[in-house]
Amino acid sequence: MTDDTNPTAPSPAPAPKKGIPLWAGLVILALTAVAVALVGLLAVSIGERRQEALRPGFAVNPVGEWETDPAAWGLNYPNEYDTYKATADSTTRTKFGGAAPRDYLDEDPNQVILFAGFGFGKDYKQARGHMHAVEDVVNTKRVKNPTPEHPDVFHPATCWTCKSPDVPSKMAALGREKEKDETDPLKQIAAGAEAFYASNFHDLKKDITHPIGCLDCHDPKTMKLRITRPALREAMASIGRDVDQASHQEMRSLVCAQCHVQYYFKTSPKNYLKFPWEGGHRVEDMLAYYEKHDGAFADWTHPISKTPILKCRHPDYEMYSTGVHAYRNVSCADCHMPYRTAGGAKFTDHHIQSPLLNIANSCAVCHRWSESDIRERVESIQAKVHAAKLQAEDALVKAHFDVAAAMQAGASDDDLAPARALIRTAQFRWDYVSANNGMGFHSPQESMRILGDAARQAMEVRLLTARLLKGVAPVYPDVSTRATAAAVAKTFVDGQGVKLLP
Ligand code: HEC
Ligand code: HEC
Ligand code: HEC
Ligand code: HEC
Repeated sequence: MTDDTNPTAPSPAPAPKKGIPLWAGLVILALTAVAVALVGLLAVSIGERRQEALRPGFAVNPVGEWETDPAAWGLNYPNEYDTYKATADSTTRTKFGGAAPRDYLDEDPNQVILFAGFGFGKDYKQARGHMHAVEDVVNTKRVKNPTPEHPDVFHPATCWTCKSPDVPSKMAALGREKEKDETDPLKQIAAGAEAFYASNFHDLKKDITHPIGCLDCHDPKTMKLRITRPALREAMASIGRDVDQASHQEMRSLVCAQCHVQYYFKTSPKNYLKFPWEGGHRVEDMLAYYEKHDGAFADWTHPISKTPILKCRHPDYEMYSTGVHAYRNVSCADCHMPYRTAGGAKFTDHHIQSPLLNIANSCAVCHRWSESDIRERVESIQAKVHAAKLQAEDALVKAHFDVAAAMQAGASDDDLAPARALIRTAQFRWDYVSANNGMGFHSPQESMRILGDAARQAMEVRLLTARLLKGVAPVYPDVSTRATAAAVAKTFVDGQGVKLLP
């Protein structure tokens, strides 16, 4: 963000030239005028070309209100469609990111313990490109699937919400029974949301087939960015903001905030999707939200320490909001969807991916550092956050075992209530950073602050339990590989656990 022109430098005053006859001066003047006019025309024409490239609306094949198939939109916008399709590539890798889905549980067995007894402890992989969203949710072991013994198994349809443009379309189909106003598609979507969330995931499989696509972010009539997900509209309203009044630059992040956020399913209305934003986006604001509105809510009870745990999902938008780029009005799209050109047309790159795979078009537009300097800077930030994350995990894993050891020594639920309350908030803090995409890059200081608090709270748990254990040190089981960690977790899930006291 440097400026090459130095306003304080003295500008050389043009000295009047002697010896040029008046006629020659007039000719030069006339030629200059013609040249200036030509340059002006050229600039206007370039400007128009650029505008044309960026101005959609010359739809050759009009797209219907509920067209969910990206291929149909692609007939009008081939550049956007072709780059969008590139999100199918799952081979790229960066130091901490890329589209190749890292197996978090193989790489970091601590998470097998921290998510023991919950779906994430069985199957937890890094996100890959949008083109895979439907296939990946269908295949994850976190979704309960029908078996020959239980053919009618129920799993919340809410899990579909961030996977497909068929979601707003299905919500509207359900909403039309209540909301007859055909002129406002958003009203129909809102009217059908509750029925959608209450449905069975497996019943909607036949309706939901296209991965995240054009209809998720664009109004098909105007191609303007549009928020189709009721949960974000409601969350914005809960912080006093009307999403339809957001600036164009804000919309370039808000379209992502439809899905890249923390959320949970309320018990009433059934499995209703909610972003816990009321007090703000910081981790403390969310914890205060749960305390105030849903104090008893837990995603599951941890089988080792018997703590009711809140799973933090992927609060990418919230974390980003606390960072310097949000402060300086840089949007998600500025880094993840930079402009590019093809055949003279300028357009938005719809190959949404790690910006480290496209530094020249993303970061380097604003930062005049070399590509290698930018990459090193990012990796050094991420490595520090990663190290702090592992330290917080180590303290948290031991805190769970310490509580279990105190139980084995005869401590009561009352004795352990303060320790469990601290595990709950420590683990939510750790997860707010750990589950965030980008390994802390979106807000480095905030990530380190939160991990510091998580580790401190986990150590407080250990002080409390040390008192209950009267100085007897627990013997920690080996959880250094995925296999050993899974075996230990299983003994607690099955009810007996491993012996932790010497
Ligand atoms: C200033 C640029 C910038 C902005 C703004 C930004 N990101 Fe990122 N994002 C990055 C970088 C750098 C990474 C790390 C990529 C890596 O490790 O390969 C990243 C990583 C990610 C990842 C994981 C990608 C991967 O391959 O691991 C996701 C998802 C993501 N960002 C979403 C968002 C969302 C959503 C927003 C807006 C709320 C946003 N980002 C705003 C630069 C940015
Ligand atoms: C995740 C959200 C998202 C999805 C999905 C998405 N777009 Fe976009 N699209 C954007 C953003 C952000 C912009 C930049 C808009 C702006 O700044 O005005 C954009 C811009 C555009 C533009 C304006 C011209 C340009 O290139 O800047 C067109 C046309 C477009 N998208 C077509 C499509 C098509 C076709 C699809 C489906 C194949 C699609 N988009 C899917 C977010 C999305
Ligand atoms: C409709 C929900 C939805 C919207 C809108 C959305 N995402 Fe995603 N995004 C997802 C899901 C789900 C995944 C994981 C897909 C998978 O792993 O199969 C994902 C994955 C990603 C990844 C990982 C891809 C990689 O190569 O590492 C990035 C980066 C990303 N999204 C950025 C964005 C940005 C930036 C926006 C806004 C312009 C956005 N997303 C809008 C749901 C969404
Ligand atoms: C649209 C402009 C823009 C883009 C694109 C952009 N940045 Fe920035 N970046 C800024 C601004 C503005 C600041 C605030 C500091 C300043 O004014 O120089 C900043 C600050 C930073 C900082 C210092 C962070 C801190 O906490 O002080 C780093 C590191 C950084 N950017 C890296 C990146 C990387 C990596 C990318 C690409 C993934 C990127 N930026 C993309 C505008 C941008």
